[in-house]
Amino acid sequence: VRGKSKKPKGFIVAIDGPSGAGKSTVSRQLAEALEGRLLDTGAMYRGVAYFVIQQGAMSEHEYVEIVKGISFSMDEKAGAMLINGEDLGAKLRTEEVGLMASLVSQFEEVRTVLTRHQRTLARVWAKKIPVVVEGRDIGTIVFPDVRFKFFVTADPLVRAQRRYDELRRRGVKRITLKSILKQNQDRDRQDSTRKLAPLKVPEDAVVVDTSTMKISQVVQFMKNNIQARNFPEE
Ligand code: DC
Repeated sequence: VRGKSKKPKGFIVAIDGPSGAGKSTVSRQLAEALEGRLLDTGAMYRGVAYFVIQQGAMSEHEYVEIVKGISFSMDEKAGAMLINGEDLGAKLRTEEVGLMASLVSQFEEVRTVLTRHQRTLARVWAKKIPVVVEGRDIGTIVFPDVRFKFFVTADPLVRAQRRYDELRRRGVKRITLKSILKQNQDRDRQDSTRKLAPLKVPEDAVVVDTSTMKISQVVQFMKNNIQARNFPEE
């Protein structure tokens, strides 16, 4: 019989992948399914980008000053990340902020500061609960030693179509599939070819191609995979 005490309370799951592969939805739902918490590291880069835009910062020096001055905490009740004490929510989800996030994420000091915050937050939470950490360099740089690593990806055309559908649902009219495909390509290139912590598949990650899978199937697959390895047959 499996003893209850054998179940580890907290552990870290690293999820990486390109934008639009379904990574954020999958990560959020996996965190829920594990009764844990999500650390959305893209939101942290977006938070920096938001203040960069708001303050009109234009140089590396200014970006670094901004990131050093930002505090990250958790609104436990709402389950939302607070950036400088504020839940920036939808303000972080614009295309402008996304592109700026991709840009500022290329600077070493910006990454160093955010990586440090990510390690601290996730390690503290993981003492008590499972923590799903989602980003581009989680399994490679931020937590290279964790057991559970996934790389979530999908066919570029599928990713573009999903994004297109999402924008249409939100009422955005003046977009084309072609322009999204191009935008994705640009962002992927920027994220994968940058010198520091480029997006790549961690050596020991389980690659999940979501092109023909439903979100619920992806989440179930990952949960099973984690549980099979976390609670091996005695
Ligand atoms: O996942 P996202 O679209 O919210 O991320 C926005 C940008 O932030 C992404 O284009 C690259 C950067 N990023 C990063 O460099 N490293 C991470 N761990 C997460 C995001």
